[in-house]
Amino acid sequence: MIDLESHYGELLDILKKDLEGEVIHLAIVLGSGLGKFPETIKIVKTWDGDNLPNYPRSTVEGHSGKLILGDIEGKKCLVFQGRFHFYEGYQVHETIVPSIITKYLGIPYLLLTNAAGGVNLDFEPGDLMLCTSFLGFGIKPELDQVMKIAQLEDRNNFLKTPDPDFNDIIIWSALEEKVHLKEGVYWYNKGPTYETPAEIRMVDKFGVSAVGMSTVAEAYWASANGVKVSCISCITNYAAGLSPHKLSHEDVTIAAKLVENKFNRLVRRIAAYFE
Ligand code: HPA
Repeated sequence: MIDLESHYGELLDILKKDLEGEVIHLAIVLGSGLGKFPETIKIVKTWDGDNLPNYPRSTVEGHSGKLILGDIEGKKCLVFQGRFHFYEGYQVHETIVPSIITKYLGIPYLLLTNAAGGVNLDFEPGDLMLCTSFLGFGIKPELDQVMKIAQLEDRNNFLKTPDPDFNDIIIWSALEEKVHLKEGVYWYNKGPTYETPAEIRMVDKFGVSAVGMSTVAEAYWASANGVKVSCISCITNYAAGLSPHKLSHEDVTIAAKLVENKFNRLVRRIAAYFE
């Protein structure tokens, strides 16, 4: 089992030193097609992931791999522009690097965002969904390898994933910003292939509303280590079999672009909430 603190020690020391004296309330991971958010906030500092020791390199189009300290109405947030997927060939501990950094820098809240296919027939491309729960059968056994019992602050924290109080903050922010939010369960599919129509019919019966290839490991680990987690999915397409259209990553990023404005407004409002 990998010792996260020693493997990522140098990386964490650099960030801790660079961020000395900063009070950061919120970390944000930007999913596929949602990476333009930093252009709408005041940027205080940027790190290129390539220059940070043991920071994974993103191989997916639209995930720049940068880390950004942003200022929103005087409130600081740490933004991860892009993430690392299990399907890119990474070890599970590499896919949760944003969660590890969030925990060890002492940032209390982590907002995960992603692009997802809509399973619920009431959803359409361009909708934003607040995650009410996660299903991650595929990633759970892998994740258990980096979950040392001794490191867990609370074994029951999965019950608070996503964190209900954080979700309330997001619901209020959406109301204030007049952004319509759907709600539902997010299912993790390892990828990189999209699902089959039969898989989508199966998870629909399980109560799943949206499907994607990320987030669940990041959410479980962070939450089990005392970080309050929430997740917003951008519905970029109808899930497999629900429309005659063939799915592609390009379509996902084009659809994410359509929601850019309301997504950026909502995330800014959430970030500005924290005292
Ligand atoms: N399936 C899995 N991941 C996705 C999808 C999808 O339909 N859309 C965006 N990411």
